[in-house]
Amino acid sequence: MSNNHFQVYSIIFISVIFLACQTKSTNGSGSNLSFIGIDSSKFDSVISDKNVTLYHLVNKNGLTAIFTNYGARIVSLMVPDKESNPTDVVVGFNSINNYTTSSDPYYGATIGRYGNRIAKGKFSIDGIDYQTPINDGLNMLHGGPIGYQGVIWNAEKIDSSTIQFSYLSKDGEMGFPGNLNVKVTYRLRDDALKISYEATTDKKTIINLTNHAYFNLNGEGSGTILNHQLEIFSDQYTPIDSTLIPTGELANVKGTPFDFTKPEIIGKRIDLDNDQLKHGKGYDHNFILKENGDNKHAAHIIGDKSGIVMDVYTDQPGLQFYCGNFMTGKNVFKGGAKDDFRTAFCLETQHFPDSPNHPNFPSTELKAGETMKSESYYKFSIKK
Ligand code: BGC
Repeated sequence: MSNNHFQVYSIIFISVIFLACQTKSTNGSGSNLSFIGIDSSKFDSVISDKNVTLYHLVNKNGLTAIFTNYGARIVSLMVPDKESNPTDVVVGFNSINNYTTSSDPYYGATIGRYGNRIAKGKFSIDGIDYQTPINDGLNMLHGGPIGYQGVIWNAEKIDSSTIQFSYLSKDGEMGFPGNLNVKVTYRLRDDALKISYEATTDKKTIINLTNHAYFNLNGEGSGTILNHQLEIFSDQYTPIDSTLIPTGELANVKGTPFDFTKPEIIGKRIDLDNDQLKHGKGYDHNFILKENGDNKHAAHIIGDKSGIVMDVYTDQPGLQFYCGNFMTGKNVFKGGAKDDFRTAFCLETQHFPDSPNHPNFPSTELKAGETMKSESYYKFSIKK
């Protein structure tokens, strides 16, 4: 087939998806998503007395995304590759059961109340000590054992390209103070997936929300991400101890395997003899983003086979680059591939890990009556 024919067929294919989604997207349930190999009935369920289902968004630029309200989570994100073939760049599972039983519960999910780690789950606010449950060796990870990835969110489909999830995280849930009202809005805008967060509390608390999409820009199940080319707009990162808690130091990336100020292949230095890489079993580190302001360019990454380029922008101070070092092939993705070692990566826009215990890190406190707002977006294009 000639390239031209290919493109014409791909455009027709994307238009059919678009029309199909337009006619079936009123409330997101009962839809036929067989075009991406998902049987939506395998997501219709009741968990903790709440209905769980799938929702899908689509826009005119050919982006299609599937979500579930279990964990306000991205299940799939289809982006055209260099030959206009729709490519699923967010890995995930094909049934709710696979999500609830996964050995890694975070695939695609919203993470909170405090994303990343808190040393020994301990922090204090205004002299009052708090203790969260521990779920990662000695520490708390991603909000404790039942963080926001493991709860059922309310969902409201705003229009064909926008969905809003909301959740009331009660005072004391997972040890955090204050009733926190959280909203996460996903919007497909032009060539980007935009994620907006909003939260209010009735008692001073700490908050660090992020999304845990695991990406493979060559498409789910296409092998390791080690040949992706990555640039991170950061001169400094926060070194960690052997339990992945920051030491408090802000270290320069220059002359280290953490220097992504110029585009580098992810796998090039990942197995060097370096203590930091040993602690993370590869890259699992927070990078301090350079500029200030709302639309900071955080990262630029290219799938070597697909030519798909992803640019990450955020208003958050940090970016956790994690390259699937703890993926062990125990779970099976939508398309049938196993979640093997380093077959996906995460670029999590967030505050620094363990901030409440490091006065030199930007504060994560939210006072009663204040509104926390934050925005990140993942923009897609084709390598020129
Ligand atoms: C952390 C990893 C952790 C992973 C779990 C990442 O955000 O940095 O250490 O294993 O989440 O999915």
